[in-house]
Amino acid sequence: MLTTTVQNRVLHVVFDRPAKKNALTSEMYAGVTDTLNRAEAEEGIRAVVLRGSGGNFTAGNDLMEFAMFSQLAGSIRDTPVVGSIHRILSFEKPLIAAVHGLAVGWGVTVLMHCDAVLASDSARFSVPFTKLGLVPEFGSSYLLPRLAGDVRARHLLMTGGMLNTEEAVRLGLVSQTTTDDALEADAQALGETFANLPTGALLATKRLLRTATGHDRLKQAVEEELDHFEAGLRSEDHREAIMAFMEKRSPRFS
Ligand code: COA
Repeated sequence: MLTTTVQNRVLHVVFDRPAKKNALTSEMYAGVTDTLNRAEAEEGIRAVVLRGSGGNFTAGNDLMEFAMFSQLAGSIRDTPVVGSIHRILSFEKPLIAAVHGLAVGWGVTVLMHCDAVLASDSARFSVPFTKLGLVPEFGSSYLLPRLAGDVRARHLLMTGGMLNTEEAVRLGLVSQTTTDDALEADAQALGETFANLPTGALLATKRLLRTATGHDRLKQAVEEELDHFEAGLRSEDHREAIMAFMEKRSPRFS
């Protein structure tokens, strides 16, 4: 479900569950965390690429697992998805996303934490949190207004609409466009560009940019979002959204 390969000091993490549009399970989030731990520890790995197999980046969190989260006795803070968020928030090496097809939920919010985002013309971006009775996560309620401006961030995060690549570039979510055919090679080339730069200067630059975007305030936003997200997971509206998805019908909300 998660495959990894290394080529010329660039590690590729591939979401590999094509029959479910690469929807992310706890096992896959834990795999992301473990792989990034390995990437940070191994001197020979100089950059990481996140991408998806079979025509899509990822359809976001597995909705069947969301249904199970709502039954959790403990806190969502102890789950692998939140573990992956914290791992990425502190990841020091260059992180690149290569997006084609669908990028949904975490598949969009993770982009705001990458150092470069490549997207092909087939890419479609959606943050359908409110449609699921939930709220934005991964610091996106803090980062998106800074990237896209207040009104555009509100419009997108509150309606959960879908964007194409051109619109995502305008919003500041994508740093480079390409074609489906060239996506993987372009991501590898960018990874090698990072790999050939002086590590000390690169890592210090990433740290400086993090400080400039208010990393402490970002971490606070992540925590505030999690409080609301957890309440959302236990709500009737969320239950209705999941039932509607499973029954392939429109939801009826409060
Ligand atoms: N979780 C679990 N399964 C998912 C999934 C998800 N997030 N996204 C897609 N799938 C599954 C579908 O249930 C379907 O499985 P099936 O063939 O066994 O019925 C399969 O993947 C293909 O999806 P389908 O809905 O038929 O594809 P589509 O092209 O018509 O629509 C989406 C694609 C992504 C728009 C639609 O699947 C969707 O809205 N998914 C939910 C996205 C979401 O809300 N993610 C959570 C964000 S926080």
